[in-house]
Amino acid sequence: MDKKLTPIGIFDSGYGGLTVFKEIEALMPSYDYIYLGDNARAPYGSRSFESVYQYTLSSVKWLFEQGCPLVILACNTASAKALRSIQQNDLANIDPAKRVLGVIRPTAEYIGAHSKSKAIGVLATKGTVHSNSYPIEIQHIDASLKVYQQACPTWVPLIENNEYETAGAAFFIERDVKSLLAQNKEIDTLLLGCTHYPIIEKQIRSYLPENIQLISQGAIVANSLEAYLKRHSPMELAISKHGTQQFYTTDDVHDFNQHAPLFYGKPIAAKHLHL
Ligand code: DGL
Repeated sequence: MDKKLTPIGIFDSGYGGLTVFKEIEALMPSYDYIYLGDNARAPYGSRSFESVYQYTLSSVKWLFEQGCPLVILACNTASAKALRSIQQNDLANIDPAKRVLGVIRPTAEYIGAHSKSKAIGVLATKGTVHSNSYPIEIQHIDASLKVYQQACPTWVPLIENNEYETAGAAFFIERDVKSLLAQNKEIDTLLLGCTHYPIIEKQIRSYLPENIQLISQGAIVANSLEAYLKRHSPMELAISKHGTQQFYTTDDVHDFNQHAPLFYGKPIAAKHLHL
């Protein structure tokens, strides 16, 4: 890689972070970016805290070695299970000037202000749900908000195997959406708390009453990053600005290039990385 680049690092367990990166790049095209998908060790959604933490840490360290002053964990599961430990325990030893940000805090800040009934539903992976990160962050902002969660463990494999438009997928999507809504009839705001779920937004919406708003986090995270960089000018100045994007995957490059456009909306030529 060009030694002069100091890009923003975007990390995800695999493909899903591309739905977030797409929005970040659209909002701030002048920065350099390097995307790392840890496909070889994905999915993270059903893995232990320790595994997700170790995998995320090794990925963040690699992105720092490539010159990134800032890394975004564009993955809910990694944000839920690894971000806090990396921020509190590891950054000081690696390089105190570098930063790692996640997707849960900015999403929680946004969603908390958008529910009239104060009852919010969250659809996410098992790992994100069990971490309780969304209820904790949302109630930290407004203790009167009630948060209801539903783990949807079949959704990521259905999307990654291109089975999300089948009758089988419809069964699981309907079951999980209805199971969430049954927790409280007052739910008026529903968060897609996994980076893969915007791909099946249409199917999810088809099981929702019209008064329920469905929130995807890509644009929220992009706006929050823009605001962060405006508040932190030394970090903003440290990021190089040639408008380049590089993509790395820890698994098969051919597979990655084939599946990525579903999430990113355009073709990708990724390189392989062994971690
Ligand atoms: N990107 C992950 C998330 O947002 C989902 C994929 C996985 O389970 O690895 O939670």
